[in-house]
Amino acid sequence: MPESATPVTFPPAFLWGAATSAYQIEGAVREDGRTPSIWDTFSHTPGRTAGGETGDIAVDHYHHYREDVALMAELGLSAYRFSISWSRVQPTGRGPAVQRGLDFYRRLVDELLAHGIRPAITLYHWDLPQELEDAGGWPERDVAFRFAEYARIVGEALGDRVEQWITLNEPWCSAFLGYGSGVHAPGRTDAAASLRAAHHLNLAHGLGASALRSVMPARNSVAVSLNSSVVRTVSQDPADLAAGRKIDDLANGVFHGPVLHGAYPETLLAATASVTDWSQVRDGDLAIINQPLDALGLNYYTPALVSAADEARASGPRADGHGASPYSPWPGADDVAFHHMPGERTEMGWSIDPSGLHDLLMRYSREAPGLPLYVTENGAAYDDKPDPDGRVHDPERIAYLHGHLSAVRRALDDGAEVRGYYLWSLLDNFEWAYGYEKRFGAVYVDYATLARTPKSSAHWYGRAARTGTLPP
Ligand code: NOJ
Repeated sequence: MPESATPVTFPPAFLWGAATSAYQIEGAVREDGRTPSIWDTFSHTPGRTAGGETGDIAVDHYHHYREDVALMAELGLSAYRFSISWSRVQPTGRGPAVQRGLDFYRRLVDELLAHGIRPAITLYHWDLPQELEDAGGWPERDVAFRFAEYARIVGEALGDRVEQWITLNEPWCSAFLGYGSGVHAPGRTDAAASLRAAHHLNLAHGLGASALRSVMPARNSVAVSLNSSVVRTVSQDPADLAAGRKIDDLANGVFHGPVLHGAYPETLLAATASVTDWSQVRDGDLAIINQPLDALGLNYYTPALVSAADEARASGPRADGHGASPYSPWPGADDVAFHHMPGERTEMGWSIDPSGLHDLLMRYSREAPGLPLYVTENGAAYDDKPDPDGRVHDPERIAYLHGHLSAVRRALDDGAEVRGYYLWSLLDNFEWAYGYEKRFGAVYVDYATLARTPKSSAHWYGRAARTGTLPP
């Protein structure tokens, strides 16, 4: 565990939260009118997830939500970020809401508020109703308008009691992993479709933000959560720097360009000209997407280390072997090589580099001066196992959290307006294509009995939340 001479202390109003998402924890996939999302279809398709695992039961949060809220309250958390399952609310992705679906979220929110925990709602965490995918999915413009209708329904139902709203979670994953590399639902591999999806996700954010604001009290905050990549290059060689810029445009500029600055970067348009003519961007779209945000959510786990794809540079001092390119089917993607960094990694194989979180927060302080920032996800998977006494000790996760929260503190010292931090994740859960093997939870879940056991990191984090100071 890292030693620190002076206590690392946070402002009294700082939010100490945990985050989850609907498909990863709820289960109850056929209850109360819910219909399949693209993740139900994908996880039930042989070969798509590790061991063929699905979210059918997950951690059955749908039936354990009271226990889960009580756990958060016992630990002392002040905020909880969760997502809504679109197909629980609108089973066909359009039309009137199913009240039984909305009622679950009303009960959850009321339970949180009764325990003094501030809810933050993510409207879209990757589980598109299957009917909308059958109609073409995110590469089709209509889905953005359907999302706005869904946002209005949820805003009307819960806007009186939930102040923090996030339109989309990590649209990069929806666009590029869902429609480009195909490792996420719906599993399509079509470079042009992934860029159409990216624009329609941006448009959905803009239309959804307007819809929320039209039905909610003005005090509520509307944000988007980006997994902006911290792109590092193996050297300062111009070819490596050019590779870094290319990935920065594809990973970051494609979303923060229109959202924060009202334009797609020229360099992105040039680099993708052989893939798309960007005719998906219609007059007026950029103004809708670029409306003022109340806050920005940033999810951070690990930086990306890239170089130009030539073997001489690929063995630069910080590189430690090749990683897979997340842009593999792209024309020109092979111009950039992705590397592992030397040093410790989590169970996901992701390098541990807290300075990346500091750099990310400082970058967005410059990109959007004065905009409140939230770390809407940060955490680590480890191979946690209960001891014979039934306790789960996870000192590596405590060290990870200590390092990254200290990086948040440094960003605050350097002037970043960071208002809160959500640990990913409250509970062990369905880690998408990895199934249940990767445990990100601060709370251990025995998948056979669904029993919850707070790990030592949960107690550590709870103490930080209660005292505003990182325990040693
Ligand atoms: C980001 C995603 O939002 C979340 O769903 C996922 O489980 C974590 N990253 C860890 O991979």
